[in-house]
Amino acid sequence: MVELSVGVVGATGLVGRELLFFLEKRKFPLSRLDCYSSGKSNQGIFFQGKKYSAKKFNFNEAKKNQIIFFVSSDEVSARWAKKLAALGIWVIDDSSAFRNDPAVPLVIPEVNKEEISPRSRLLAGPNCTMTGLGVAGYRLHQKIGVKEIRLASYQSVSGAGRAAVEDFFAETRKDMKNFSLKGGRVPILKMKKSLHLPRPISANVFPQVGAFDSQGVSGEESKVAFELRKVWKAPNLKISVTAVRVPTLRGHCLSAWLTLRKPISLKEATRLISASTILKNDHSYPTPLSCAGREGVFVSRIRRGCSPFEIVLWIAMDNLIKGAALNSVQIAEEILRCGFI
Ligand SMILES: NC(=O)c1ccc[n+]([C@@H]2O[C@H](COP(=O)([O-])OP(=O)(O)OC[C@H]3O[C@@H](n4cnc5c(N)ncnc54)[C@H](OP(=O)(O)O)[C@@H]3O)[C@@H](O)[C@H]2O)c1
Repeated sequence: MVELSVGVVGATGLVGRELLFFLEKRKFPLSRLDCYSSGKSNQGIFFQGKKYSAKKFNFNEAKKNQIIFFVSSDEVSARWAKKLAALGIWVIDDSSAFRNDPAVPLVIPEVNKEEISPRSRLLAGPNCTMTGLGVAGYRLHQKIGVKEIRLASYQSVSGAGRAAVEDFFAETRKDMKNFSLKGGRVPILKMKKSLHLPRPISANVFPQVGAFDSQGVSGEESKVAFELRKVWKAPNLKISVTAVRVPTLRGHCLSAWLTLRKPISLKEATRLISASTILKNDHSYPTPLSCAGREGVFVSRIRRGCSPFEIVLWIAMDNLIKGAALNSVQIAEEILRCGFI
């Protein structure tokens, strides 16, 4: 069996640590691990019982690897990923730097693994909100055709990275002091500023994930629409999204309304959806807590919408796992399975 030299850029981040966990758990055949971080703090990493240090990124060192995962930021990926891929190194990028680039395949292995080929050594993983819908709705789209989608997301704080999670902890600790029904009234908490999020997230919910464009659409809402069209190869798909941040730690949930090209029975819809997801019945519907730490996309509450053409479903998955780290590891496994290394 091949044994590979593997680099992880952003190894100390929320996704980076999950990525290392899954490389180890799935026994990815690596002989050497090369970890990078901002280099500003000296954080240790444990992998297969050994301690590694995550050093500042170094191009000349990094180019000794055969596969490099980028789980850092758009800026870091934009600066280095193409240069490394040009040397023949397989680069799997979880940032949004190349997702819109027509020359870079955007891959969810359950949907379009045939896009992985030596024609492009640089491969992008999609946005964590889109992945749940991309997997859950794909068979419906393939067999019946999906014409329109309406989507509401309920996105956990870890989707915004470690600094946002630190904010969530700090804000919640402060609010806890006022969590009591003294005098019988529900406390009216003071609005404060959040350090890394657009609004305070403790005991709050807000309809903004990313910056708004001139049309009032948030960055996340545009990404979901663009990336779903790309992964499904459905340039004319109509999609309308409201992306909402909620005070949960990990696990994104979606309410999705799919308008199909022709009516089908709920039984048939369920059969198609369950081909690529973990189906739960209406009484054991998935939640952020129930899917935290687990692989896969969970679906339940499949029902008829307001017309015979519309199917409504509830989707949940761990944004750090299938929404990021696991998807990247699956791409790497596919590269090996196809014998491209
Ligand atoms: N969070 C999610 O659910 C999710 C889902 C899909 C995709 N993604 C994408 O995955 C990437 C990582 O997200 P995250 O949530 O893990 O972020 P994070 O928790 O903020 O971690 C960022 C990582 O990047 C490192 N870093 C910062 N500057 C660097 C530099 N100049 N060179 C090398 N490494 C540097 C950080 O190192 P230090 O520890 O030294 O700061 C840290 O390891 C982002 O591109 C994000 O868009 C995230």
